[in-house]
Amino acid sequence: MSQRFQVTPWEVTGVVDYDKLIEDFGTEKITPQLLKEIENITGGLHPLLRRGFFFSHRDLPQVLEAYKKGEGFFLYTGRGPTGHMHIGHLIPFLFVKWLQDKFKVPVIIQITDDEKFLYKEEFTLETTRKYAMENIYDIIACGFNPDLTFIFQDSEYTNYYPLAVKIAKKITLSTVKAVFGFKNETNIGLIFFPAIQAMPCFLLEKQCLIPAAIDQDPYWRIQRDVAPKLGYPKTAAIHSKFLPGLEGPTGKMSASKEQTAIYLTDNPETVKRKIIKYAFTGGQPSVAEQKKKGGNPNICTVFQWLNSLLEMDDKSIKNRESMCLSGQLLCGECKNYLSDKLIEFLSSHQQRRVEAKKHVDSFKYTGVLARELWSKKW
Ligand code: TRP
Repeated sequence: MSQRFQVTPWEVTGVVDYDKLIEDFGTEKITPQLLKEIENITGGLHPLLRRGFFFSHRDLPQVLEAYKKGEGFFLYTGRGPTGHMHIGHLIPFLFVKWLQDKFKVPVIIQITDDEKFLYKEEFTLETTRKYAMENIYDIIACGFNPDLTFIFQDSEYTNYYPLAVKIAKKITLSTVKAVFGFKNETNIGLIFFPAIQAMPCFLLEKQCLIPAAIDQDPYWRIQRDVAPKLGYPKTAAIHSKFLPGLEGPTGKMSASKEQTAIYLTDNPETVKRKIIKYAFTGGQPSVAEQKKKGGNPNICTVFQWLNSLLEMDDKSIKNRESMCLSGQLLCGECKNYLSDKLIEFLSSHQQRRVEAKKHVDSFKYTGVLARELWSKKW
């Protein structure tokens, strides 16, 4: 029996059935054949691809084709600054950084301080702008190439306005009502906003590829509808699953629920405490039962976090999985292991974040791509 779940850009609830989502959204599965084609170019696959965390796409073969023909492509992703980032937020950025290294392509990163101001009654624009800067440090810490990367805040880099109105003119109210569920009470800023989130796909005259969690796909459907009418290519997309929150496999990690998330700024004591106290596992109620029946890594947050972010060695993760299934491994050991791995990961991220603060200008204003985009007119 499939349980009820819901995936929209605003909310993810229930246990997500990803195959059903591919059907509902009309996207395509990433097949072993497609993975092989990527590997032929990149010489290896990122664990997030190999392990199926990125699982669905639109027009990915066209992107590889454009690349092979020498036409090139660019990557676009983004972040809505609602608070400090947690480890789930980092995953798409780490993947984009890998793609940038492998393909040597431009990356455009949109920080939607406008969207989150419009969406949340209690946020002032000053608040979302403040979080935007905090988030930008974390994003830079992922190691992007400063000359090939442009990071911008919607409320600051406003050169895109002519592009946004050209897009907006092709989108009707009934379309955004149907796609996003807007109501008469929705403020008109939010109603215009889909044009702004589609806009970065038009910033460079090349094929665009968007790596993002699948909840953002409705925006790409709008872009793909409008693009041919404006004489631009439809964007391609590669979709990820959601990282489960600490408390278990329903919904996704949420920045506004302290007990579900590990923030990038958490210190070692906090990490340990949260994992011991909240981490949901796939374990049995007693040690005796665990030894007899084994655990269930499929629903285990500890295993999922190791598998998608922290245990990049294939042999070690396979070994952990089979030890768990056969009951040789107890949840307490796994929790300790996860906690050590996370502390190590966060400590090096936090060091890179301090360093990142010195390089903000190259990403926002002075890098080669940043200068090109600040001087461009539409
Ligand atoms: N709307 C996204 C969010 O709430 C932010 C965003 C803007 C984004 N452009 C994007 C995310 C492109 C992924 C890809 O987080």
